[in-house]
Amino acid sequence: YRRLRVALLGAGAVGSQVARILLQHADELGDRAGASLELAGIAVRDIDAKRDVDLPKELLTTDAESLIVGSDIVIELMGGIEPARGNLLLALNSGADVVTANKALLATHGPELFEAADQVGASVYYEAAAAGAIPIIRPLRDSLAGDRVVRLMGIVNGTTNYILDRMDSEGADFGEVLADAQRLGYAEADPTADVEGYDAAQKAAILASLAFHTAVPLDAVHREGITQITPSMIEEARAAGFVIKLLAVCERLDVDGAESISVRVYPALVARTHPLASVHGANNAVFVEAEAAGSLMFYGAGAGGVQTASAVLGDVVSAARRHIAGGVGVGESTRANLPTVPIGNVVTRY
Ligand code: HSE
Repeated sequence: YRRLRVALLGAGAVGSQVARILLQHADELGDRAGASLELAGIAVRDIDAKRDVDLPKELLTTDAESLIVGSDIVIELMGGIEPARGNLLLALNSGADVVTANKALLATHGPELFEAADQVGASVYYEAAAAGAIPIIRPLRDSLAGDRVVRLMGIVNGTTNYILDRMDSEGADFGEVLADAQRLGYAEADPTADVEGYDAAQKAAILASLAFHTAVPLDAVHREGITQITPSMIEEARAAGFVIKLLAVCERLDVDGAESISVRVYPALVARTHPLASVHGANNAVFVEAEAAGSLMFYGAGAGGVQTASAVLGDVVSAARRHIAGGVGVGESTRANLPTVPIGNVVTRY
């Protein structure tokens, strides 16, 4: 097998699991990729930080740039905009394919990265950037490329689903369940990103861009969080046959005869008979309605280190296959030069 040098940037909850699996199952993943996957190093901020998994010390480095140059595949799991953005641009310009789970970066600088990748014939893989372990990026981009998605409704934030679910099932108080979600490791470092809908809005921008084959900027996403939801609202909804879920709703609209799309994140009333009503705990689900396929539902773990590592490693195998084929095959980028369909959000409050 040809040896491919894999660089990992970040060893947090997801990164440390990616490293563990890549080291433990190197032979099996290599067989699937048709290449030998050699973890060349892991760039971290602090070599001595406490981690979920014990990683070989000799692989850890604080010098991300030296690790990137000369690598064939660069996995970015640092999160945040910088230095992740600069590192990925360096990786692409050095001839690497990149794998990232960085929803904030993709939702704000996606087109820049895709364009950089297109220019050098490289690819950006990001199955883990929305809905964790659930395969949803490839289905939207590839499997449904011959269809026409008319609406996508997603529970794409595990923390808020966990909170709302416990408020619904136990009449629990918001603050108390948020602390549990943090303890269980679902919440972002700053849980405002979860409870105010910022995290879901980033994922909505990514999913809507793929569903409608257009570049949806983050600031076009209407966003409301769940901090105003009280136990009595949940009770009233229940009495009327509904459950309150934080939904990302992306749909095609007809505004005065012109096509437009709408991308909104808000606490919505979901009928208890709808499949999305039965998504409990920190799980995620994406319900897609397409003209020819009809209704499809994608369900599973939307958060969690090892679960999200599954999606990252699938991307690594795909990147390796394409890399050894000399870059031949389906480019993984959402092309940056697609026309932007106007966003005509209809604000809905419940
Ligand atoms: N904080 C996120 C969530 C993690 O709760 O869904 C996964 O992106």
